[in-house]
Amino acid sequence: MDRRTFLKASGATALVARGGMAWAQSASGALRLIPMTDLTNGIEERIALTLNPSTHDFGNGAQSATFGINNNYLGPVLKVKQGQTLPFDVVNNIGDTSTLHWHGLHIPGDVDGGPHQEIAHGSVWSPDVPIVQHASMNWFHSHMHGKTARQTYQGLAGVLLVEDDGSLSADLPQTYGVDDFTLILQDKMFDAEGRMSYNVSAAVFEDGFEGDTLIVNGTIAPVAQAVPTGLVRLRILNACNARFLGLSMETGPMTVIASDGGFLPAPVEAESILMSPGERYEVLVDMSALEANALNVNLNGNGGGFFANLFGGNQTVTALRLARTAQTGFTGSMPTRLANLSPAQPSEATVTRSFELNMNVGADLAALALAWDNFCGDAGAMAINGLPMKMDRIDETVRKGDTEIWRISVDDQLHPFHIHGCSFRILSQNGGPAPAYAQGWKDMVHVEDGWSEVLVRFDHDAPSDAPYMYHCHILEHEDCGMMGQFTVS
Ligand code: C2O
Ligand code: CU
Ligand code: CU
Repeated sequence: MDRRTFLKASGATALVARGGMAWAQSASGALRLIPMTDLTNGIEERIALTLNPSTHDFGNGAQSATFGINNNYLGPVLKVKQGQTLPFDVVNNIGDTSTLHWHGLHIPGDVDGGPHQEIAHGSVWSPDVPIVQHASMNWFHSHMHGKTARQTYQGLAGVLLVEDDGSLSADLPQTYGVDDFTLILQDKMFDAEGRMSYNVSAAVFEDGFEGDTLIVNGTIAPVAQAVPTGLVRLRILNACNARFLGLSMETGPMTVIASDGGFLPAPVEAESILMSPGERYEVLVDMSALEANALNVNLNGNGGGFFANLFGGNQTVTALRLARTAQTGFTGSMPTRLANLSPAQPSEATVTRSFELNMNVGADLAALALAWDNFCGDAGAMAINGLPMKMDRIDETVRKGDTEIWRISVDDQLHPFHIHGCSFRILSQNGGPAPAYAQGWKDMVHVEDGWSEVLVRFDHDAPSDAPYMYHCHILEHEDCGMMGQFTVS
């Protein structure tokens, strides 16, 4: 029996023990608006972000032990503007070493917040983060080597909205909490007392941790929100550790206006959108002709793997119900043009690199992976191009300003691949074209069969003591060694 077969067999035992467990969508509350700090009009002082232990009620009455960033659970929504430099003071009070990575930002390696910029408990990290990119929805989360999954699950994640002159004056809904909402989607497990739990067995580690309960902004779904008539904007982040989510609207197609790295050239209509962990999409919902609508999430987004079924996949859960009030909100109409974005030009590439994401690395490498501080629970190690992550090994050396093609394949399973320090364009995904809504600026691409290829250019420095990462964004896979590092100069 090889390792995979063994894990599937041991998983089968768990399936019997757990029976057809239903999703625990029991509570039903109001959408929690994440506190938003709008800095687009100017930054007067340093921006303090404090990582702290706390407790939080997810809506089931129990107090769960959590981490938060200036909050009990999760961080704030920060709204900033292109051209600003963000003077952060990141204070770590969680009782363990951590880091805070700015996922999606085009910034130099030494302020990127990756695993090399450790913040010891009780100390402060003060990067000055220059925002040069255009309007885009980004986020921040722990990136502590070997502990990213646990710390992020515990609550060390928040949203960073970059605006620019164009987006601030665009005819789009942008009144936060009225016609413009930020939604952080996650899945959780809760113990018998209703407290958030995180137990990773070898089998769970193999697929990444998947919870049986969908939460929205830290509240068990479904949640409800009253909205004015007119267009409503939803800026959505999949902050699950491992679960792919299939999003759809109850009443018809979704209108997608932006992906990870910015606006699409024009709105794209899609029956549903597949969101991997780490991805962001913005959608517009037209509430002028409807009294009610709902955002639904199919939890079997990864296509029905063995563990998806085990943990309540193949089900659709309502995440957010929208109920229209008599108030008039955003009165503009559905935009027809959003951004100038020409088709990706693969002919501009001068370098091609290939990456294979490895689930099956063998016992010798597994021991090495642990020696290199990767964390795999009881599972075997994972790797990229045959090597698990090692903090003092640089895997790739990139020349600043070169246009490159990165080709990614896997030896098993479906994986969401992420690259630091850039936005890229997807040339192909799983050997075919990406859906129209994923053809704009991205920093996530997923791959299961064949090659996924992206066109990418790096414009900032990442020296060997502060390299960028590329990795699987199933956080348990990242922690277990499915990550590599590269310099840019
Ligand atoms: Cu969102 Cu290297 O991560
Ligand atoms: Cu990142
Ligand atoms: Cu993976």
